[in-house]
Amino acid sequence: RPTLAGLAERHGRYFGSATDNPELTDTAYTGVLGHEFDMITPGNGMKWYATEPRQGVFDWTAGDEVVDLARSHHQRVRAHTLVWHSQLPDWLTSRTWTADELRAVLKNHIRTEVRHYRGKVYSWDVVNEAFNEDGTYRETLFYKTLGPGYIADALRWAHEADPHAKLYLNDYNIEAVGPKSDAYYALAQQLRAQRVPLDGIGLQAHLALQYGYPATLEDNLRRFSRLGLDTALTEVDVRMLLPATADKLAQQADWYRWMTEACLAVRRCAGITVWDYTDKYSWIPAFFPGEGAALPWDEQLAPKPAYYAIREAL
Ligand code: XIL
Repeated sequence: RPTLAGLAERHGRYFGSATDNPELTDTAYTGVLGHEFDMITPGNGMKWYATEPRQGVFDWTAGDEVVDLARSHHQRVRAHTLVWHSQLPDWLTSRTWTADELRAVLKNHIRTEVRHYRGKVYSWDVVNEAFNEDGTYRETLFYKTLGPGYIADALRWAHEADPHAKLYLNDYNIEAVGPKSDAYYALAQQLRAQRVPLDGIGLQAHLALQYGYPATLEDNLRRFSRLGLDTALTEVDVRMLLPATADKLAQQADWYRWMTEACLAVRRCAGITVWDYTDKYSWIPAFFPGEGAALPWDEQLAPKPAYYAIREAL
């Protein structure tokens, strides 16, 4: 029976999963991870707190473990993430920086990390979660100190360090057309006009049954395509209020089917990544108390209706 990756490949797309270092000792888990997917994202191992725990001191242990595992299974890697307001090391957040100081810190972080993984990753989520829900810039350390130009600078530095990696901006709640995805559309147009190296927009797609399906997803993917950009669904999960029922699991399956169909319908949607594949290792229950059951495999690693729906769509 073909795998999700094998089915996606027939359409020229990939099908990926996030993973994280603590899970890699679970051999039943890594068996499916190594078999069913052709793209891997480290869920935490390449974030700033992990890679530069002290200023100028880099630690590649966690990221390398995931990259090496992926390579041993002939899988590609979506690297995640270089610039984000969350999961930053204390040395970076516990003092103030002048613009010149922070620019140097950011440049060194990006150049060193991207060089380390040069030739080993398919893409980088260069900036993660740069906008608020209303489409204004999120007031992060980087924005407040450097202004909006930090995004173009980050893309240029990353491109210099690995000219072959595809460079993405990535965010949640930008699946539908709306103020937040409009902000990415406008920024993408501006960056293209300025010849800033940007290859794609990543739509995280952390969906929740109680908030409704983003019906304009396909239109939204298509408008980015028309700008000459790739898109990807980068962190897909569909959470629900627990307990899971047969009805909710059926609705969830429909949503996974529709997302898969939307990506396949748009030429430049490069692929889909689930934010881990099994409810056993989902981040949802810890971050959204009372919610869960968000992934296509259950906690016993058994495929759910969502898994069969994805297969049917592919
Ligand atoms: C999550 C990880 O899955 C968790 O293990 C961690 O504790 C918090 O971050 N958007 C992102 C991801 O871009 O990096 C986040 O990952 C989930 C939301």
